[in-house]
Amino acid sequence: MQKLAIQGGSRLNGEVRISGAKNAALPILCASLLTSEPLQLANVPDLNDVATMRKLLQQMGISIEVNGGQVVLSAAHIDKLEAPYDMVKTMRAAILVLGPLVARFGEARVSLPGGCAIGSRPVDLHIKGLQTMGAEIHIEHGYIHAKAKRLKGARIFFDLVSVTGTENLMMAATLADGVTVLENAAREPEVVDLAHCLIAMGARIDGVGSDTITITGVKKLHGTSHRIMPDRIESGTFLVAATATGGSIALTDTRADILDNVLEKLQEAGATIQVSGSTISLQMNKRPKAVNVRTAPYPAFPTDMQAQFMAMNCIAEGSAMVVETIFENRFMHVQELRRLGAQIDVEGNTAVIRGCAQLEGAAIMATDLRASACLIIAGLVAQGETIIDRIYHLDRGYEHIEAKLSQLGADIRRLK
Ligand code: EPZ
Repeated sequence: MQKLAIQGGSRLNGEVRISGAKNAALPILCASLLTSEPLQLANVPDLNDVATMRKLLQQMGISIEVNGGQVVLSAAHIDKLEAPYDMVKTMRAAILVLGPLVARFGEARVSLPGGCAIGSRPVDLHIKGLQTMGAEIHIEHGYIHAKAKRLKGARIFFDLVSVTGTENLMMAATLADGVTVLENAAREPEVVDLAHCLIAMGARIDGVGSDTITITGVKKLHGTSHRIMPDRIESGTFLVAATATGGSIALTDTRADILDNVLEKLQEAGATIQVSGSTISLQMNKRPKAVNVRTAPYPAFPTDMQAQFMAMNCIAEGSAMVVETIFENRFMHVQELRRLGAQIDVEGNTAVIRGCAQLEGAAIMATDLRASACLIIAGLVAQGETIIDRIYHLDRGYEHIEAKLSQLGADIRRLK
């Protein structure tokens, strides 16, 4: 089990390039199933989850060429319509093959994802949506068996805003017979990036970026080339880290227009932020002020940034409330932060953090992807050495994060 060792106290200074967005790359890789022609992708991040998704697609018969961030996928010869448990259990986003498989091949056998650290995370909305479109679905031995001669366009209302639920059904609807309307759809930028890729493949989609998406089914989709959007959560993570440690950083190849809420909160904490084209610069030369956050679907404050802000609040001036409304168990990092001396009380989905002057380094353990980033931020500001165990969580979603942080002056190294 690899660990990270961090000596706290360095300010972050310098420039890093932001990688392609994990949560855009994962659904877009699955979109290759919708056509027999090659899908050429650029700016695909080098992440464990992306590698897992590539393996899952290859075992179905998709041919994939990888050349750095360039990936070409061709689903001309699919010979297996299945996503096996041993792959789905490590990455719940594997559920995203369900919609495309049923839409193009009329059948799919996809393992139910297990729960995960941050909550039960059911896929009932994915299943209900496909049933509304005429798929016959039954669940046995932990697998979803779906069959449909041809999916029919339908009106689908999401009881809860679901990012991958919206993505799965949007992909399925591109080849359905007739018009599908997704109501209470997710508006996340990654959903928009997927929609742009599908439209470039010949899909007919209206309402992209709104909570009502209308898809008019077509007979076939063709190949295209698409560049994956920058990762807004990686961007936000570096910006919070620099606000917590103090310093002056510049993020290149990113986008500010999809981070309004996060940038506003960082300015409220006292950071100075400039945006020019695809570069976001941030300067911070004092102790941050505590900021309240309440997570909700986009464009509200992203749940994937909650843990990182909690780390900053641990050493901020004043107290703050962090309310997590999306997942029922996304406070696993609280226990670990307390080991560093953080003052945090949790009541249900609300955490109250009283900022301390400083944290003390200690041995701690990562529990999920974004919690790992939170613990790194805490280690960067803690006095002395912090050792973070189980950092395989981190490698799922952050490309070479310790190399990028070292580039910014952090004293961080991976222990084999
Ligand atoms: C996506 O997960 C992201 N993952 C998550 O990022 C992100 O935290 C989440 O959206 C919320 O923004 C990917 O895009 C690959 P949801 P997803 O369906 O789609 C409930 C990261 O760190 N729900 O939007 O799985 C669900 O339990 C990851 O990169 C149902 O009840 O999340 C949750 O409470 C973590 N039934 C809420 O909806 C369903 O059928 C939102 O979940 C589907 C979801």
